[in-house]
Amino acid sequence: MMISEIEKKIKEVVAFKPKDQKSFEEFRINFLGKKGHINYFFSEFKKVDSSDKKAYGLAINELKKVTINKLENFKSKFSSNEKSNNKKEDLTRPLSVLELGSRHPISIIRDKIIDIFSKIGFNISEGPEIEDDWHNFTALNLPEHHPARDMQDTFFISKSPDLLLRTHTSSVQIRHMENNKPPIRTISPGRVYRNEDISARSHCFFHQIEGLYIDKKVSFSDLKQTLIYFTNELFGKSKIRLRPSYFPFTEPSAEVDIYWGLNSETDYRITKGTGWLEIMGCGMVDPNVLENCKIDSNDYSGFAFGMGIERIVMLLYQIEDIRILYENDSRFLSQFKKSI
Ligand code: PHE
Repeated sequence: MMISEIEKKIKEVVAFKPKDQKSFEEFRINFLGKKGHINYFFSEFKKVDSSDKKAYGLAINELKKVTINKLENFKSKFSSNEKSNNKKEDLTRPLSVLELGSRHPISIIRDKIIDIFSKIGFNISEGPEIEDDWHNFTALNLPEHHPARDMQDTFFISKSPDLLLRTHTSSVQIRHMENNKPPIRTISPGRVYRNEDISARSHCFFHQIEGLYIDKKVSFSDLKQTLIYFTNELFGKSKIRLRPSYFPFTEPSAEVDIYWGLNSETDYRITKGTGWLEIMGCGMVDPNVLENCKIDSNDYSGFAFGMGIERIVMLLYQIEDIRILYENDSRFLSQFKKSI
């Protein structure tokens, strides 16, 4: 008798507990599939005696209801599988591309400069960005009330303890000389701060690299030769000139200009028609500075130089506005990918 068969199936469904995804799937296909029990019972409907048709129909509907309920109850447990079974992945879809990062141009040029000086025996030294008056000023031959303190507009933090944001990486010269005995050959990259208006050409923080060489009988010609080597390596140009200048911590002091040339309209504009570009400051370390760091200035002499990294980045990559270096706009930064 067909109805009793359906009732048997209903009991089977009620008792069924899928163990895993496979048995759940098998159950679904056995009952609800095209060739499953429910479709089979429906197809037999026409053979049923008309007096039994109503009871038979109710029985199938009951079977269908309990089957669907059962599937619903276990769906959440096996739903992820159900999803992957029902929805085929579209294998023609384009891949989402993994974007590679790029180095910041300031890092690229800083590392290049470090490389150039490493080759001739300079090591790297670093110091804190929050400095005290001694390391940023006094030890560098800039005693209190010295007018040259105004050359660098300072962000002061507090009077006691006396703290400020370093205005130059020359503070690292002092720290290095305090902690190391000559011969000293060191290069100090780092961020510095000045209380200046922000414009296309200046910013309230930027990056410098300071160089320091201390040994017996170091002369001005050693300085000049080192600078020629450096400009040749970095710019591929070695024509330089040293213009007399003033820094409290060096004596004599000079500004270094490089002959950039006048080959394009841009060259005319950036060199103001002279072909020369200022790239850094330098000089022979003032004996007072050596003495402040307990280095005997009768035995030792040395030179120091310092440059702004942004200035060189702007020159090499022809960037007109310094502010773009700090915006971290990925459209700008991604252009430096090839230089990784
Ligand atoms: N500290 C100077 C500046 O910030 C640069 C400099 C460093 C000059 C070392 C001479 C020697 O402008």
